[in-house]
Amino acid sequence: MAEQTPDPKRFLEGSFAPVSEEITAFDLPVTGQVPAELTGRYLRNGPNPMGLDDPDYHWFLGSGMVHGVRLRDGRAEWYRNRWVRSKAVSQAHHEPWPAGPVHEGMDFAANTHIIWHGGRTLATVEAGPLPYGLTDELETVGPCDFDGTLPGGFAAHTKLDRATGELHAIAYFWAWDHVQHVVVDAAGRVAKTTDIPVPDGPMMHDFALTGRYIVLLDLPVTFSLDAVAAHKELPYVWNPDHRSRVGLLPRDGSAGPRWFEVPPCWVFHCLNAYDDGEQVVVDLCQYDQSFDPSTLWNAHGPVSLDRWTIDPAAGRVTRQRLDERGQEFPRVDDRIISRPHRYGYSAMIGEVTRAITPTGDFADDAFTNALLRHDLSAGTVQVRQFARDAVVGEAVFAPRSADAAEDDGYVMAFAHNPDRGASDLIILAAQDFTGPPVATVHLPARIPLGFHGSWIPDR
Ligand SMILES: [Fe+2]
Repeated sequence: MAEQTPDPKRFLEGSFAPVSEEITAFDLPVTGQVPAELTGRYLRNGPNPMGLDDPDYHWFLGSGMVHGVRLRDGRAEWYRNRWVRSKAVSQAHHEPWPAGPVHEGMDFAANTHIIWHGGRTLATVEAGPLPYGLTDELETVGPCDFDGTLPGGFAAHTKLDRATGELHAIAYFWAWDHVQHVVVDAAGRVAKTTDIPVPDGPMMHDFALTGRYIVLLDLPVTFSLDAVAAHKELPYVWNPDHRSRVGLLPRDGSAGPRWFEVPPCWVFHCLNAYDDGEQVVVDLCQYDQSFDPSTLWNAHGPVSLDRWTIDPAAGRVTRQRLDERGQEFPRVDDRIISRPHRYGYSAMIGEVTRAITPTGDFADDAFTNALLRHDLSAGTVQVRQFARDAVVGEAVFAPRSADAAEDDGYVMAFAHNPDRGASDLIILAAQDFTGPPVATVHLPARIPLGFHGSWIPDR
């Protein structure tokens, strides 16, 4: 396919446009009623470059800014947004850097996810840098190497096994001849690392966890010195010479990974995975063909929700399409990670869809700003539509109580409110997904489209 000419401002305009101020606002106006059982913080990370003058800006490379809303006693107590204080961000604010460990000189304002584990709120990112710890009110504590127990960099995506309290991650770094499985114990220290040899330096944005296995996605997007030399926005490109495969690494350490070939494709995100007898089921958002994250514009769509069933006895992977709709940011109820799920939530985001289609044009159905609720047992999908300019990002599930059933709770997301020119926190009842929101929290500012977040209940 011929290269399209990318719009250099694509990720600096419209719903992607960064904000320039850090805001603290209290007692936010609410339409509806914040459920009293939601006591905690909804936090979301995303790139927010400090300037608009970088002609090679890529969405993946902006300094991380965390947006958070605190809910308590049926009220929306506060909204805050804060840049993660890397050294560069600190200097730009004329503040001392909250110094700490740095892996291979790669200090970066982690921009991809935000999680809570082992007593820390952590902004995370992949490909080498360390996470940054934040206070409950989003001020930067400093870089985190888990009290000196992490040997290398960390990862954007992690999976918490609620049964063991262990947090799993797959770290990758361009100069390594392996990727690294990292297990962080419940106290927040690295308990185990396992190096897994892989050729070519693949990008491994996400992975999956089952009761027995780490599921590794070794797909043909790899580090490229040519891309570095050519000043591509990202040094990771589609590599047709790299074998496309999925690996099962036994969690008990009894063996190395066993690999299974899959047709060349790309996956950013897994919904969830689980053991099914001797087989392993992985639900994920799959880009069918070649995918070049260095530009995003030249990627081939579409992306759909698919199920990969890995059969170790037969030595093969069976792929099944679950939903054709273009969607990303798949999430399950976090409590169910690594065990069989029935429900999943994902986002259809018009502006992201446009950014990743080859022409930059919208398909007719790609204007869609919508959240999806999948009932994978019934094979049904509910579409929660938002208005044309009401761009909505990733949705996160919050259970009604710690022991509530799967899907018995709320789905939260930031959505742009075009009438106010600012964002709302939308809180939907998962079991009334297309009904009116339970609560709409009106925030004082616009929140740029970003990446991932978490509901962090008070402990
Ligand atoms: Fe991600």
